Amino acid sequence: MWRGAFSLEKKIFLQTAVAPYGIFKVSHGLRYTAQLRQRAAMLEIGTHVIENPVFLAPMAGVTDRPFREACTLQGAGYAASEMISSDTLLYATAKTRHRIVRANNDVPHAVQIAGSEPTAMAAAAVLNVQHGAQVIDINMGCPAKKVCNRLAGSALLETPDLVRDILRAVVAAVDVPVTLKIRTGPTPENRNGVAIAKLAQDEGIACLAVHGRTRSDKFRGSAEYDTIAAIVDAVSIPVIANGDIHSGDDARRVLESTGAAGVMIGRAAQGNPWVFREITACLNDEVIPARPSLTEVGEALIVHLKGCHQLYGDFRGVRIARKHIAWYCKGVRNAAVFREAVNKIDDPCEQLNYVEHFFARPECYEIAA
Ligand SMILES: Cc1cc2nc3c(=O)[nH]c(=O)nc-3n(C[C@H](O)[C@H](O)[C@H](O)COP(=O)(O)O)c2cc1C
Repeated sequence: MWRGAFSLEKKIFLQTAVAPYGIFKVSHGLRYTAQLRQRAAMLEIGTHVIENPVFLAPMAGVTDRPFREACTLQGAGYAASEMISSDTLLYATAKTRHRIVRANNDVPHAVQIAGSEPTAMAAAAVLNVQHGAQVIDINMGCPAKKVCNRLAGSALLETPDLVRDILRAVVAAVDVPVTLKIRTGPTPENRNGVAIAKLAQDEGIACLAVHGRTRSDKFRGSAEYDTIAAIVDAVSIPVIANGDIHSGDDARRVLESTGAAGVMIGRAAQGNPWVFREITACLNDEVIPARPSLTEVGEALIVHLKGCHQLYGDFRGVRIARKHIAWYCKGVRNAAVFREAVNKIDDPCEQLNYVEHFFARPECYEIAA
């Protein structure tokens, strides 16, 4: 429905029909909220229907299979893998293989690739599709030095011709939808997000996620949404707004101010997959569910940890699990004492027992007077 060129009338009709919970968008860029709110609207990525346009953001070292499963269980409508390099030689390493394991959920298996060489990116896309990827996502949003030093991630935004070559090569190489994640531009002085978005649409990108910061902003300051609104106005493919969305109210405000087709949540989901049920309820005008009880948090964490142990094996699994334990117990009474103790544990069963005990009786972890 979203792909290809539309007449202006058709474009306005479609955007009106699927606009999130009644934000109507008109051709001269004004937005207004319909009096009768609709449910958060589904969107399409190629042939995939995304029922709930509340996405989990890809986060290297975080959004592995257990984490994606925890988030989709709480309502995330979409969850791409962690980024993997376009260097297919690395696919033999355990680290890369773990990153692309399919999650046990009913959202499309989307794998994010990063690189700067069109032919290598196309080859990586093909290999991932052969291994089951149903969507290929291209990373042009990551500001990490390790990635940008090789002119990949958000560094590519400075070279639109290379962006075009990469998108063209990848889209031509695979018959699954290709999506793109960008920042608003390389620097605040050069917010070229609109130009990149138009180029992406012309090259057949099926959906575009935009983080409302430039590459040079890294994670400083606040995300800005005006550039995202301008991108939404400029293209007819679905645009997903990302950056600093922590709650249902944030999501609603960002959708209202940008007219985006959906929102993408990153850091707010760390240790809090329940943020997806809160945002989903808010966008659907439903009663906001209560915060999870300590028991519910403990039970979800146990499932998550077992997933880490199973995916990575005992040694790496226990270590990778530690950061998730720290995030889940943020704000819980006596968490600091508990964290210090649990981080010394190397055995997976002992780690599970310790976590179970803490969430049942956090008062036992008080510092002895
Ligand atoms: C730990 C971490 C790892 C990230 N890794 C990736 C990545 O692999 N690919 C990517 O496109 N963005 C990556 N990002 C950026 C996020 O997808 C997202 O754009 C950013 O965190 C802003 O959203 P937020 O404010 O909701 O966190 C990462 C962010 C964090 C915090």
